[in-house]
Amino acid sequence: MQDQLNRILEEAKSQLEKAQDRAQTEEIRVKLLGKKGELTQILRGMGKLSPEERKTTGQIANEVRGRIETMLEDKFAAVEAAAQAARFKAERIDVTEPGRRPKLGVKHPLTITMEEISKVFMNMGFSIVEGPEVETVFNNFDALNASPDHPARDMTDTFYITEDVLLRTQTSPVQVRTLLKQKPPIKVISPGRCFRCDTPDATHSPMFHQIEGLVVDEGITMADLKGTLDSFAKQLFGPDTKTKFRPHHFPFTEPSAEVDVSCFKCGGKGCRVCKGSGWIEILGCGMVHPNVLKVGGLDTEKYTGFAFGLGVERVAMLKYGVDDIRLFYENDMRFIEQFK
Ligand code: DAH
Repeated sequence: MQDQLNRILEEAKSQLEKAQDRAQTEEIRVKLLGKKGELTQILRGMGKLSPEERKTTGQIANEVRGRIETMLEDKFAAVEAAAQAARFKAERIDVTEPGRRPKLGVKHPLTITMEEISKVFMNMGFSIVEGPEVETVFNNFDALNASPDHPARDMTDTFYITEDVLLRTQTSPVQVRTLLKQKPPIKVISPGRCFRCDTPDATHSPMFHQIEGLVVDEGITMADLKGTLDSFAKQLFGPDTKTKFRPHHFPFTEPSAEVDVSCFKCGGKGCRVCKGSGWIEILGCGMVHPNVLKVGGLDTEKYTGFAFGLGVERVAMLKYGVDDIRLFYENDMRFIEQFK
């Protein structure tokens, strides 16, 4: 029996030497010390021995078990350390490697243009108000003095949702909302989306953006309108920019005008951007019609105002030399990334 114990010890030694990892070591442990393990069997068989033999063999058996347990402990520690070393090696971080930069998004050119325009007006004391894209026919047309037979009301020009509700065709209804909410002095701009039943082509889109402006107070004159818009044009397009006010018609302003700026590309000599004329049309404006002021319940003898509306796409196309409005909506990153 003692020979057997020595043989087990020797075998345990040689097997443990060969074991590569935790699983193999555990297998050896079970084989030796498990319930059905060799050593366990021997210890169980000791009952059959005489008391003296039991004493000496028992001592040796315990010693063998102790040594095997120590060997196993050492082996487990060794394979754990080896596994950890391997893991550290595999997970090693190269601190000299350049970091990976998260890819930052860019602002859309229309956002950039709207922010730039808004900033100019905010610096002149305007605040920003907003209105909904789904509007009432009343706010979009009636309250803005558009006659019942105005051509813009036509189904072919306007997206109607019901008889009384539509997708706003202009940001001008925000004028009405502002007049119903605020008392003069009023000095606001309102950027936003507009919709018209247009077939898309290089210069038309059924969805586009405008920036509306409204100033109402006692003693506001056409001189305030001209001064404000001239200063705006110089801040946006450069200090040498000239403005020209051409008579026009809008239902909600009287008198009305369209504003041209001297071409920022050629300075007025005539080029491709200004189509040879030296001037570029950028917005519509006028003195607020008394009928519109009346919607806000204002005394039209006391209060006057001016308003303007500017096409954002048009300004962005001119500023950036974009020759097709549809490029703004295709979300091709090769296009959008150019305006960082
Ligand atoms: N709403 C007009 C349009 O869509 C633009 C406009 C012109 C707005 C004159 C105004 C204005 O406030 O005074 O064509």
